[in-house]
Amino acid sequence: MNELLLTDEERDRAGTRLLAVLDGYERGLRRAQVLPEPDRAKLTELLNTPMPEQGRGVDAVFDSWEDTILPNSTAIAHPRFLAYVLGPPHGIAPYAEAVAAALNQNCNFWQLSPAAGVVERSVLEWLARVVGYPSASKGILTRGGSLATLQAMVVALNDRVPGFRESGLQRDAAPLVVYTSVEAHRSVDKAAAILGIGLGNVRHISTDDQRRMDVQALRQAIGDDREAGLRPWCVIATCGTVSTGSVDPLDAIADLCETEDLWLHVDGAYGALFLLSERMRDLMGGCARADSITLDPHKLLFASLEAGCLLVRDGTKLRDAYAFDSSYLTVADDPLMTDYMDYGPQLSRNFKAFKVWSALQAFGVEAFRTANERTLDLAQRLARGIEATPGLTLLAPVTLTAVCFEVAGADHTELLKTLAAENVALLGPVVVAGKRGIRACVTNHRTTAADIDLVLGRLRQISPRTAPPRRTRPAAAEPR
Ligand SMILES: Cc1ncc(COP(=O)(O)O)c(C=O)c1O
Repeated sequence: MNELLLTDEERDRAGTRLLAVLDGYERGLRRAQVLPEPDRAKLTELLNTPMPEQGRGVDAVFDSWEDTILPNSTAIAHPRFLAYVLGPPHGIAPYAEAVAAALNQNCNFWQLSPAAGVVERSVLEWLARVVGYPSASKGILTRGGSLATLQAMVVALNDRVPGFRESGLQRDAAPLVVYTSVEAHRSVDKAAAILGIGLGNVRHISTDDQRRMDVQALRQAIGDDREAGLRPWCVIATCGTVSTGSVDPLDAIADLCETEDLWLHVDGAYGALFLLSERMRDLMGGCARADSITLDPHKLLFASLEAGCLLVRDGTKLRDAYAFDSSYLTVADDPLMTDYMDYGPQLSRNFKAFKVWSALQAFGVEAFRTANERTLDLAQRLARGIEATPGLTLLAPVTLTAVCFEVAGADHTELLKTLAAENVALLGPVVVAGKRGIRACVTNHRTTAADIDLVLGRLRQISPRTAPPRRTRPAAAEPR
């Protein structure tokens, strides 16, 4: 008897209860509170429970999941979870995650993960084709977009700073400078701080009236820095900025990076996977010219967290930045296998590719294209509704699925709370060009036109310009 395994009966029981949890979750989603009021007493009790000396058995674990964890979890998958950029998982995710946990492949080198390594490589090659990268590109799945960008910056340092691996940034040399826009995600600043570049060496370039990086201002900043004796090093353009979804002028930036000999990274965590759709080709085709790119399968490919992705156009540069010899690992020079420990900072890595690959097998890329195009259409529907409503004003053009607007005369923080409390929707705050407002981001494959209309309807009712605020708390009428 092994105290850490389940008996045959317990496995049966766990299986039955797991299916019941998953089924109940899916069926109850539409009726669930998007942002439940946390039961503080229960969570405090959870926190104060001492480490159990004796196990309580499978049923007790499931009971506590149902009693404490599920009711106190944000319903990320609810059709009107429209906050932040966070796609709800696709339907095969829980099953793929369960099998991946059982297999527990260590996706670091071939011997510990032969099939998993090939699956990861296959997913990366598919994604590279979507971006338009050549076959010489290589990549790695990461824990998310933030880390993909940080890992890309390491590649850029290794490639552009002579002696970087041996001497790091400790040599007495002029500061390196990285350029991004004022609309860039905070992960760029964070990576610069973590890597020792220093926030003072991050230039936040101004944007045009569509929130896109101003290339003339970028050129000027690079010139100014060169003149001041600094070392312009890397540009991080954004394909889908986090607040408004704007897409920087990628081709013009790529031209400038070529002329100035700078590394170009594209943060495509939010937007670049819209390249699955033909209608985004003109806007985003320049992604193919970047030296490296961040994608986020846990956003537009609806993988369960965590699944980010870094692709590097010249794959040898990725390996050069991360490969180290180690006498205690059994590596083999096999063209089929990839030792992912040589492509990123981690040694032990889980099998993230499995859920991405399984979903593409189960549903096909066409299903993802359709779902993403639907979110683009729904964002336009919301934008049109806002434009047509007195008292509501768009704060930025709607390029992708982020819809930013202000409600004249409203306290936006209170309005967000009201919408969440009434279970109309969970939306997020935004500041665009200094103006505070509300942001709906339709990154949700479950959202329908009826959901968008429900949100619009309530906004019309409670907008101070169109109606006096209602005192009662109407339950959100569920669209069918
Ligand atoms: C443009 C952009 N970059 C980076 C990130 C960070 O991605 P992650 O949360 O996967 O680290 C986000 C997240 O929303 C984003 O929108």
